[in-house]
Amino acid sequence: MSHISTESHDQSPLALLQWYLDSGVDECISGEATDWFAISTEAKPATSKSESPTPVSQARKAAPSPLLATDQIASTAKELVRDCKNLNDLRQMIEEFDGCALKKTASKTVFSDGIPGSDLMLIGEAPGVEEDRQGKPFVGASGQLLDKMFAAIGRSRQENLYISNTLPWRPPGNRKPSDPELIICRPFLMKHIELAAPKVLVLLGGTAAGSLLDSNAGITRLRGKWHEVDVAGRKIPAMATYHPAYLLRQPQAKAQAWSDLQKIRDKLNELDG
Ligand code: URA
Repeated sequence: MSHISTESHDQSPLALLQWYLDSGVDECISGEATDWFAISTEAKPATSKSESPTPVSQARKAAPSPLLATDQIASTAKELVRDCKNLNDLRQMIEEFDGCALKKTASKTVFSDGIPGSDLMLIGEAPGVEEDRQGKPFVGASGQLLDKMFAAIGRSRQENLYISNTLPWRPPGNRKPSDPELIICRPFLMKHIELAAPKVLVLLGGTAAGSLLDSNAGITRLRGKWHEVDVAGRKIPAMATYHPAYLLRQPQAKAQAWSDLQKIRDKLNELDG
């Protein structure tokens, strides 16, 4: 029979931390414990017809009551972005926002990279470990592939490309962003696109595509076609394509990604001419 020792060899905080690490607990998910039972009894469903619903997919609308608290935080975020007149205002507002728990475990707010005002804007998923360290999107291995992909159609973040993510903070352990996190941060992303005002959007991977196209269809079905994203009443052509991290794992999909890139190049030329 296995025996778990209750003997205390070392009571120091460092020893406790080491014990957590040895047990596989290597990420702090939140600074505070959440009482989900309390939230689900307190949260009341929105009944008024005048309340505008958050633009999420049907599956997300049907989510259980803790998401109602999420909608309230998202409404606050929507109000806050209304006062942002430029990208600097928005960056500062996001850096000061405390409504998303991810901020507590992230070391930096990752806002954007590249040329603001460029006609092409790429939207990724969320910062990874290297992005969190440097405070810039796509600076790790997938960022290097991304740079090569766009260089092939004459685009670079030094000259004519702008990049951001669906979330400005790294999810612990590089897990997928949760629906509540995407819903809370969506007003930031929409305002970001509005202020950056690109002519064409590229949605990198299933998370960005699903969130901005409000669809549960996977990236395989969404990629390779033109969609439209309505940003403050302006319909922006959007191409969904594979995330570069997926292409690193599945290089055979690069041929399809190349075909998507050619469509992006042609659309930009067409809009320019
Ligand atoms: N993957 C993303 O989706 N975004 C980043 O910024 C880095 C990796």
